[in-house]
Amino acid sequence: MGVLGERLTSTATKEIMARNAPEASITAMLAREEALFIQRNPNSKRLSEDAAKNWLKGVPMHWMVDWGTPFPLFASKAQGVDVTDADGNTYIDFCLGDTGAMFGHSPKPIVDALQREGANGFTTMMPSTDAAIVGRLLEDRFGLPYWQVTATASDANRAVIKWCRAITGRKTILVFNHCYHGAVDETYVTIDGGTPHADPALIGEVRDLTQFTKVVEFNDIPALEAALADGDVACVLAEPIMTNVGMVLPDDGYHAALRDITRKAGTLLIIDETHTMSSGPGGYSLEYGLEPDGFVMGKPIAGGIPAAVYGFSAPVAARIRKFLETRNPGHSGIGTTLSGSKIQLALMRAVLETYFTREAFAPLIALAKKLEKGIADVIIKHSVPWHVVRAGARVEFMCTPQRPRNGGEAAKVIHQPIDVAVHHYLLNRGVIVTPFHNMLLICPATTGAHVDLLVEQLDRCITELMSQDGD
Ligand SMILES: Cc1ncc(COP(=O)(O)O)c(C=O)c1O
Repeated sequence: MGVLGERLTSTATKEIMARNAPEASITAMLAREEALFIQRNPNSKRLSEDAAKNWLKGVPMHWMVDWGTPFPLFASKAQGVDVTDADGNTYIDFCLGDTGAMFGHSPKPIVDALQREGANGFTTMMPSTDAAIVGRLLEDRFGLPYWQVTATASDANRAVIKWCRAITGRKTILVFNHCYHGAVDETYVTIDGGTPHADPALIGEVRDLTQFTKVVEFNDIPALEAALADGDVACVLAEPIMTNVGMVLPDDGYHAALRDITRKAGTLLIIDETHTMSSGPGGYSLEYGLEPDGFVMGKPIAGGIPAAVYGFSAPVAARIRKFLETRNPGHSGIGTTLSGSKIQLALMRAVLETYFTREAFAPLIALAKKLEKGIADVIIKHSVPWHVVRAGARVEFMCTPQRPRNGGEAAKVIHQPIDVAVHHYLLNRGVIVTPFHNMLLICPATTGAHVDLLVEQLDRCITELMSQDGD
């Protein structure tokens, strides 16, 4: 976990506060870059018009329009760290499918497994011959003994919540303000303004979500203690570092307190490592000695083919078995047809064997440190009020001087016009940064030259932004 942002905020804040990019400069850059984007991408523009006839919002998944560009880029090829669009423009991809392609696009070991095993069937409704070995690999890599496979991390989180409710007999869950755990309605409750309320943007939700979801700020130990004091919370569902509202790092000692307080309250602690698996081959949990009762991981676990896993500790598994002895027969409400399929297991085996090792992670983390330092140097050079943080192979810069301590603070400073302008600038120069925030992932195909190019383009971007009139 890197905290170069700390150094910046503690030494240079006063000076850099005086030197933020002028608003006119940001507006001018965005207008210029939007025009360039339109000019560079006539085929994507045409495809977006064609696609609009049949797809909701013109795209096969509605959030694909949320990049903020005048129209979406349409990808024709992705290989390693390179993405090619419909106009033949090539990009160095630091977004990597928002972690789905964390080990690169179509990496050879996964393509080989797909070719080899794909010829032997995708799905059969039976456990495949890889099942026992994949189970052992999951225990070996992540330290928990009992596992299930789902199609997505959202599914895994929904299932985990149900298991926790079932075995504790408690209805309520607790999440952190401005967390994101996928399409899990119960988690969309925030406390901005003091009182909990469900996200008004949710589609088709008819329940009063505040009834069974408690929400507190990350890093607020007294609030957590108070929320769990009644003994009615089945589980805390937490990312070990918040990653979806910029990156919010835990204070020193926070995880120890979280573990201690949840144990005392009889509340299960579920750690969602879907993004923080960037921390190391056992995720943040193993890297920092957390002792979760449950563990969730999705996205790249099968190389970007839909799959996720959730695991439980031995005591939780024993409680599940006991619960099952008295459960009524019938549908459980957990599990989907294509979950645990033959092809998922074959690809998970290849991913776990190839990438979830210290040797595979070491070069990724080394390169991420180089990227973190490169961005920090650019920030210092230009004295801009930004900071940069890192979690293993994952780096993020925020265009704000203070590192937020919780989701409420972070939500106030992300999604600013400056982020959109920077994204457009980099995209037009062949660099993809994760939309919605400034996240950058290193994969095995990323090189030092790729990192240098990103840092150089960011340097130029800030130079342009800092000129008064944006010229
Ligand atoms: C921490 C976390 N958990 C779960 C999910 C859900 O993943 P999926 O969209 O693959 O279901 C996400 C998605 O970004 C996530 O960031």
